[in-house]
Amino acid sequence: MTKPLLTVLEGAEVKCPPVWLMRQAGRYLPEYREVRSRAGGFLDLCYSPALAAEVTLQPITRFGFDAAIIFSDILVVPHALGQGVRFEEGHGPVLDAIRDRQGLSGLSREGVTERLAPVYEAISTVASRLPSATALIGFCGAPWTLASYMIEGGSSRDFLEVKRWAYGDPDAFAQLIDLLTDACAEHLGRQIDAGAEVVQIFDSWAGVLSSREFERWCVAPMQAIVARLGDSHPGVPVIGFPRGAGLGYEAYGLRTGVTAVGLDTTVPLPWAVEAVDAIVQGNLDPALLVVGGAPLRAEISRIRQVVGDKPFIFNLGHGVVPQTPPENVALLVEWLRQ
Ligand code: CP3
Repeated sequence: MTKPLLTVLEGAEVKCPPVWLMRQAGRYLPEYREVRSRAGGFLDLCYSPALAAEVTLQPITRFGFDAAIIFSDILVVPHALGQGVRFEEGHGPVLDAIRDRQGLSGLSREGVTERLAPVYEAISTVASRLPSATALIGFCGAPWTLASYMIEGGSSRDFLEVKRWAYGDPDAFAQLIDLLTDACAEHLGRQIDAGAEVVQIFDSWAGVLSSREFERWCVAPMQAIVARLGDSHPGVPVIGFPRGAGLGYEAYGLRTGVTAVGLDTTVPLPWAVEAVDAIVQGNLDPALLVVGGAPLRAEISRIRQVVGDKPFIFNLGHGVVPQTPPENVALLVEWLRQ
């Protein structure tokens, strides 16, 4: 059985673009909230292979997406490196911030993939249960985005602490980026070994850097990860998501070697399909999935018209928000496939 997502990532034509959504398993689904309340904490859910596999499959069962993305989080990598990571209700992630060179010594590359073994176990469970046309996506956070959470201690408004370090002590910052590059490449490789057929790398905060820093801390590490996977796992497609990169999407497509790029909502799609040297994915505004109805339907048509018969992966410009009515997601899939 062919999988439409893999066909498109090979650059071949399909009748209808494959569709999956970032955060397709999440709080907007009542069945997710039910499992989540049974799991205890959010990290307990990430590290419970049976429950993580179950929530990964929920949106596949409900909507029939063309791909499942393994349920996990980008912050399991800092956690496995030895950093304190907690998810507080209503606050998002809280990390024991690393502020300088000394903080680096608390992180250890040893045993990372052993600590992440539950993720690989969840992947092999999902792989054995997926419908035959559904692809399985593994993922990780990009080094810059992970470093920003690790140094800011959570989400940030101005990214001043991580920039203070990147500008003020670039050699030590490069050590952190190299450590993360290494850990991410290995984590992705192990996900592929366990059954992931595609990997996506989330650089959610790529958009806060100047273009030179973007080159150094986003493009270069990404290029290194793609090259490493090309050696260890040749032929496995890599999707990069440098959210907010703006004109930087062009350099990113040219220089990282990714198979596909995820476009955030702000990128003009007609520009991206011409200017970005990679297959494109995205960039429906997640708010339209909350709104639904005619505005959603019109945007789906517009996107399909702009991409024409070019290889394209239908997705959002960022994750599904908790306020999204599940019925609108069902309609999206139905309208798209009509
Ligand atoms: O369905 C999927 O997409 C797979 C699972 C997935 C999650 N997080 C589950 C999750 C994926 C791919 C991620 C990636 C992730 N995690 C990113 C990159 C994408 C993006 O959103 O920019 C980032 C930055 C994180 C870090 C993170 N995790 C934050 C900032 C938060 C809090 C914000 C929020 O929505 O609560 C999380 C928690 C999180 N990760 C939830 C889910 C379903 C919600 C937590 C809950 O259930 O209580």
